Formats: sequence, C-alpha cells, structure tokens
Amino acid sequence: MLPTSTMWPLLLAVMFGTSIALADRRTYIVHMDDSKNIKLNSFDEMTQNRDSNGHGTHTASTAAGSVVPGASLFGMANGAGCASSDILAAIDQAVADGVDVLSLSLGGIPRPYYRDSMAIAAFGAIQNGVFMSCSAGNSGPTPSTVGNMAPWIMTVAASYIDRTFPAKVKLSNGKIFKGSSLYSAKKNSTKQLPLVYKDTAGSNRAEFCVNGSLSPSLVKGKLVLCERGINSRTEKGFVVKSAGGAGMLLLNSPSEGEELFADPHVLPAATLGASAAKAIKGYLMLGKNLTGSITFLGTQYGVRAPVVAAFSSRGPSMVDPYVIKPDITAPGVNILAAWPPITPPTELKSDKRSVLFNIISGTSMACPHLSGIVALIKSVHKDWSPAAIKSAIMTSAYTHDNRGHMISDAFVSSSTKFATPFAFGSGHVHPEAASDPGLVYDITGEDYLHYLCSINYTNAQVTLLARRNYSCPSSSLQPGDLNYPSFAVIFDAAKRGKTTFTYKRTVTNVGTAKVTYRVLVQKPKGVKVSVEPKVLEFKALDEKKTYKVKFSGSGSKVTARGVSSFGSLVWVGGKYRVRSPIAVTWQ
Ligand SMILES: *[C@@H]1O[C@H](CO)[C@@H](O)[C@H](O)[C@H]1NC(C)=O
Ligand SMILES: *[C@@H]1O[C@H](CO)[C@@H](O)[C@H](O)[C@H]1NC(C)=O
Ligand SMILES: *[C@@H]1O[C@H](CO)[C@@H](O)[C@H](O)[C@H]1NC(C)=O
Ligand SMILES: *[C@@H]1O[C@H](CO)[C@@H](O)[C@H](O)[C@H]1NC(C)=O
Ligand SMILES: *[C@@H]1O[C@H](CO)[C@@H](O)[C@H](O)[C@H]1NC(C)=O
Repeated sequence: MLPTSTMWPLLLAVMFGTSIALADRRTYIVHMDDSKNIKLNSFDEMTQNRDSNGHGTHTASTAAGSVVPGASLFGMANGAGCASSDILAAIDQAVADGVDVLSLSLGGIPRPYYRDSMAIAAFGAIQNGVFMSCSAGNSGPTPSTVGNMAPWIMTVAASYIDRTFPAKVKLSNGKIFKGSSLYSAKKNSTKQLPLVYKDTAGSNRAEFCVNGSLSPSLVKGKLVLCERGINSRTEKGFVVKSAGGAGMLLLNSPSEGEELFADPHVLPAATLGASAAKAIKGYLMLGKNLTGSITFLGTQYGVRAPVVAAFSSRGPSMVDPYVIKPDITAPGVNILAAWPPITPPTELKSDKRSVLFNIISGTSMACPHLSGIVALIKSVHKDWSPAAIKSAIMTSAYTHDNRGHMISDAFVSSSTKFATPFAFGSGHVHPEAASDPGLVYDITGEDYLHYLCSINYTNAQVTLLARRNYSCPSSSLQPGDLNYPSFAVIFDAAKRGKTTFTYKRTVTNVGTAKVTYRVLVQKPKGVKVSVEPKVLEFKALDEKKTYKVKFSGSGSKVTARGVSSFGSLVWVGGKYRVRSPIAVTWQ
C-alpha cells in the first residue's frame, strides 16, 4: 500500500544540526531522534540498552530509503542526552539549510507550548514552510499520554500492518495459543518442554527473568515463562538462555493487552498476549505437570490490519484538549528497515549477531513513514503549506481495516474494542488519496497565534512562540475557530445540556473546479450537531468557502466528567470524501 522509497526524490540528512546534500535533491528530509534519554522511546524496556545509531538508521531508512551510514542526529557516542536547547538549535539550523520535512522520532513530557522547545522549534519550521511530523509517544494505552501535540505538528500514532510472525504454543493439556516470534532455525518447532515460572524457575523476581533470578538447576532444558517489565524483552531471552533454559514464553501484562511484538530473541521464544498469559498462569496454579512447545510459522501476510498498537500514546492532550491528538496513525509495529551491522539486533552486548535489517516497533517507526509520504505530497504540490498538507493527509485517512470493519485497538478496553480518535486521530494514512484530497483546511502562522490567545496564553507566552513581540487581538476568540481538519469540543460536565458551541471552518477547493459538496454528519452521542450551509458549491479551483458547525449538549446521560463520545463530519463531492473526526469530551 505504501509507495516504495525509490519513487521519491528525497534527500536524507542525519547529522547534528545540519543537512547533507546527497544526489537527487528535490525534497529534503531531516530525521532526528534520541532514543537514549527521552521518555518517548522507553515504552519498552528494550530501549534501556538501545543504541541510538540503530534507531536512527532504522527510522531514517524508513523515511527516505536512503541512509547515511552510522550517522544519527543526537546519536552521540557516549549517549549523553541533548538539552532541549540543542534540539531547538538543530531544528532552526535545518530550517535555515532549506529542508522540506522534519521527521522527529523523539519527544518529552507534555508541557505548555511556550515551555516546549519542540513546539517552539516546530512553529519556526512551519512558518518557513517546513513540515514537521513527530511520534505521538509510546506511553499508551493510558489516556492523555500523547506528546508533541502542538496543532502545527503532525502527531503520529503507531499501528500494525498486515504482516505477522506467528508462533503456536501448544500445551500438554491440549490448549493452543497464538503468539508471535522472529525466531528462525532449521527446526520449526521445539519439543514438548516442562513449563517453569516464578518459584519453579528461581527466586527474587524470577517471574520477570531478571539477570541472576533464575536457578540453572530449575531452568535447564525447560520452557521458561517470563513476564514483561523491568528488563528488556530480549534481555530476558538472554537470561533464560544463560541459565540453560531451552525456550521462553514472554507474557504480556493486562495493560499490554494482545500486543504481539516480534523480537529477534537469542533462543526459541514466543510473545503471548495478556489473555493467553492469564490462562497459562491459571493452568500452572492448578499444579498440573504442564509441558509446552512452540511452533514457528514464519512470516504471514494478509492478517487483519491496521490495528492501533496498545503502546501508542493516547489523547486527549493533557495541555491542550481543544485539538484532537494524535492526528493520524501509520505503520509502527514490527517494522523491517535498515540496521547498522555493528549493532546486534537485540542491542545486547552479549549478542554477537550482525544484521543489515532489523524489526522494531514504536511510534518512532510510524513517524518516518508519515514523513516520507509528506515528501511525496510536497513533490506533487510544491506550493502547499504545511497545514494544507496536514489537512490533505488527515481528511483522506481511512478508518476501516482490510476486513471492512472499523479499525480496532490492540488494547481492548471495557467500553470499546474499536480505536477512537484519541488513539488514531483521523485514521490511517492513505498516501494516494492524500495527494488528491479535494478540499483542504489551511492555517496561517497568524491563525495559530490567535489560537494561542484563545486558549488564554498571555502576550508574553505567545511572544515566546512567535519569537517576536506579539499582542493578542482584543476581539474575543474561541479555540474551536482554529481551522483544524478535526473537531474537539469540550463541554462543562456541570452544565449538562446548557451549552452550545459554534465552530467556524474554511475549506479551499484543490480538487475539481466545478463541484458541489454535501455534508454528512455522524453525530457523537450526547450532542446535537448542525452544519450551516449543508451544501458548498465551488466554481473554481482555490475558491474558499466557510461553514459553521453548531454543537449543543443534549442533556443526555453521557455527560459524566471525563467521558468522551465520537462522530464525524464528511463533505462528499464528486469522487471526494473529506472527513473530519469529532471528539466531544465532558470535563
Ligand atoms: C515444519 O517442518 C516440517 C519439516 O521440515 C514440515 O513438514 C512442517 O509442515 C513444518 N510445519 C510448519 C507448521 O511449518
Ligand atoms: C548478568 O550478570 C552477570 C554478572 O553480574 C554479567 O556478567 C552479565 O553480563 C549479565 N547479563 C546480562 C544479559 O546483562
Ligand atoms: C512431572 O513430570 C516430570 C517429568 O516428566 C516427572 O518426573 C514427575 O514425576 C511429574 N510429576 C507429577 C506430579 O506428575
Ligand atoms: C479563558 O478565560 C476566559 C475568561 O476567564 C474563560 O471564560 C475561558 O473559558 C478561558 N478559555 C480557556 C480555553 O481556558
Ligand atoms: C520587543 O519589545 C521590547 C520592548 O518594547 C523591545 O525592547 C524589543 O526590542 C522588542 N523585540 C523585538 C524582537 O522586536
């Protein structure tokens, strides 16, 4: 589905604060990451030992398919983190050097934009026509964990693709579980091996298979159960192997749900989801003499996808709930891309293997997919602003999977198994449709500053972002008027049913000159939605039309504090469907 990288005349630069010119220079992408010290990349314990070069090469090759070997912005050898002022300086420098797309697989704790150097730097970038896409973070499925949420940034969630690496775990009681594994060997199956776990495997956190916790006498020749947490997933494999274990079952906790990472373990191993983990632990509690085997089924394509990754950080935004975040989802689980041969695939020193490609997961892997697509759109529409490109990608995203169902969430909550806009924003990126979106919602730098005024930032705070003296206009502004391609509406739960918000939007015709659009609204539970006008008739390209959307609380039961409900507003005209999600939250 994604275009291949060879289609794109891209330039990739991954050096500190500068961009390197390579051959065919038309669109410049700068990719930046720092996987060592920033929370964004610590979603999984694996990253404690992460080599920045590996991460940088991987994400860079995803964005542009062309790698500057071993070079990684902020991938400094000693692993010292860079101060946020360095990031700001590096982004400013990249903008000055004339890059077109900034791809940032890094992030920090959510903070107000005027104290967030990524937001400040990104604002400078977009005013110079430079698009900035950033990873949403790997702190899901906990709500309000999304980072990099300034409205001028494209915030990218991570989802599964239709490729899996399945493994079958068969127990002596006849039960079969489906897991995931990258283990490959001549033999595609282990023998039936006795299962050991926790007290039957060792002591002192043996359930997590931390170094030193497993007793070789208990573990030798056994299939060891290890829970996720504390140390990295691949290190657990090492610990089991060192203690003489013959295989490992890596168990998800409930919060990790049915997320199935495929890891390049050093021994026969499979990852199992939370429900399988619970069942197997239950059988062990019965005291039965249980054995199990793992069968490795290789690579399979065509499974149900996309599915939003449980680890992908969620909205609503903690510092600014007036825009839906994340904005979009892109492939970010078990992604195959280039890897420096000097870094072992597990990133463990004791791993002596060398590979040219590796499979890893994270919103850090999703962000460069998106950046590559931006470069593609930018090469077709050279005059589009970052906001117009962002709109094109968001309004053309799809929300159904390859089985025709709504895109689901790997974290199955009690309320829904489908992904909401707080997991995937407008949906999954659709590169072909994004290059011909029909209508765009454009936003100027001044519009964003007005927006900051509308969320009550002081002149001094807005000045920090604008990087010039700025005074908010005296006219009253409301956050809903930012010409964003999605709708976030915040009701006061205490005033159920009493409030009405009217949002204004302006669309620009970039599709067919003469075209009539009609609005379709799928209203969120608990509110009334009306659109005026309901028909937009365009006579020329670049013509702009304005409409208003009224959201009225209907006093229904869903008005408890912290509850959200979702819907959409779609303009349908000719071959175009220009879709915006609606998220209503009672606070
Ligand atoms: C495993 O390998 C054997 C022989 O190499 C083959 O017959 C069998 O079909 C394989 N099983 C699976 C599940 O791939
Ligand atoms: C485990 O601990 C031992 C001794 O402290 C050390 O030599 C070894 O490298 C550690 N293994 C891992 C995988 O960290
Ligand atoms: C469990 O299995 C082991 C190895 O097969 C055997 O030696 C032991 O007697 C069994 N224990 C019980 C309680 O069945
Ligand atoms: C901004 O302040 C005004 C006046 O205190 C208040 O009515 C409004 O709700 C505030 N807006 C936001 C977005 O906090
Ligand atoms: C902003 O205003 C202050 C005080 O009026 C002035 O000293 C300063 O030079 C101005 N800065 C810019 C960037 O215009």
